[in-house]
Amino acid sequence: MAMAVMRDEAAAAVFELSTGVHGSAVVRAAVQLGLPDAVGDEPTTLAALASASGARPDTLRRFLSLLTTFGIFAEVAGNRYEHTPASRALRSDAPDGPAHVIRLGGDWNWILWGLLAHSVRSGECAFQAHYGMDIFSFFAQDQKAAEAFHRGLAIVARREDPLVADALSVKGGECVVELAGGSGSLLRAVLERHPYVTGVLVETEQALATLDPALRQAPLASRFRALPGDCHVRAPGGDVYLIKQTLHMWDDETCVRVLANCRRAAPPGARVVVVEQLLSDGPAERRGRLMDLHMLLVAGGKERTEQEFAELFQRAGLVFAGVRGQAGDLRLIEGETPES
Ligand SMILES: C[S@@+](CC[C@H](N)C(=O)[O-])C[C@H]1O[C@@H](n2cnc3c(N)ncnc32)[C@H](O)[C@@H]1O
Repeated sequence: MAMAVMRDEAAAAVFELSTGVHGSAVVRAAVQLGLPDAVGDEPTTLAALASASGARPDTLRRFLSLLTTFGIFAEVAGNRYEHTPASRALRSDAPDGPAHVIRLGGDWNWILWGLLAHSVRSGECAFQAHYGMDIFSFFAQDQKAAEAFHRGLAIVARREDPLVADALSVKGGECVVELAGGSGSLLRAVLERHPYVTGVLVETEQALATLDPALRQAPLASRFRALPGDCHVRAPGGDVYLIKQTLHMWDDETCVRVLANCRRAAPPGARVVVVEQLLSDGPAERRGRLMDLHMLLVAGGKERTEQEFAELFQRAGLVFAGVRGQAGDLRLIEGETPES
């Protein structure tokens, strides 16, 4: 590879960075082929892996050799492969479920990052440019892609939602409305912590197809209602509105519309709690900046600073209250409906 002859350290380092695409492709293909699930507790033969993955044995052998160089599987005598910690972590039943999160992005995630220069040049959402529709219209037409997306999100949410629910203060008797709450794991965590609170989840039909079953069963079902609907158009009445990691998918105008829908539906003094990672005004931090561009590519959205959120709340006619809680990297950014 060209890097071997590069004398300049900066050139070699930046070239190395450019090859990150290889690692990403390799892990993704291993998951797509189902290899981590196909290897059991005992070493598994190449023939068995070829049959489980539907791959040609000759190309699969070459691919497995490459995988072993990344520490994903180890080759043992007799053309057999066994798990390493990395390949085990990629199994569908692994506790943290990275395989589900890798599948979340389907083909579209891969395609969209290839269009980064286009989106930077034009400011255009890459998904819309490539598919000719927004991502949620795409999911309405492709149930399999929608399921993979919501399953992956639910794995991430399972880790963060209990922290968000712990950081959220609600009073008995209040109705908590969650807009765009995915499979409902945050609302579930809130209802479990507050036995006298009711909950309404406003979501798309595709997301509600993946609803957390606990919300349909006792003891939560009697306090929970799923409401298929479009939060761009209206919100139901409630005392506390939750919108988690969703406003970053949308441009400012759409966010203002969603926040204003809450204001119109709620009584004076109701709270709107936006849960997002905040961009700092200080030096750039890579994770936040990557997510910022990811949002541009996927949905035309962006990550925001606290000041930018304050402006959205004010434009929607809400009284901005600032950051009132923290859950890991996420902040609970609050506003209230005005008294009159
Ligand atoms: C990035 S996900 C966040 C899901 C969840 N809040 C979480 O933190 O895991 C955005 C969610 O918005 C939902 N959504 C998109 N457009 C919507 C709309 N117009 N009305 C209601 N929900 C919508 C999607 O189905 C998806 O579950």
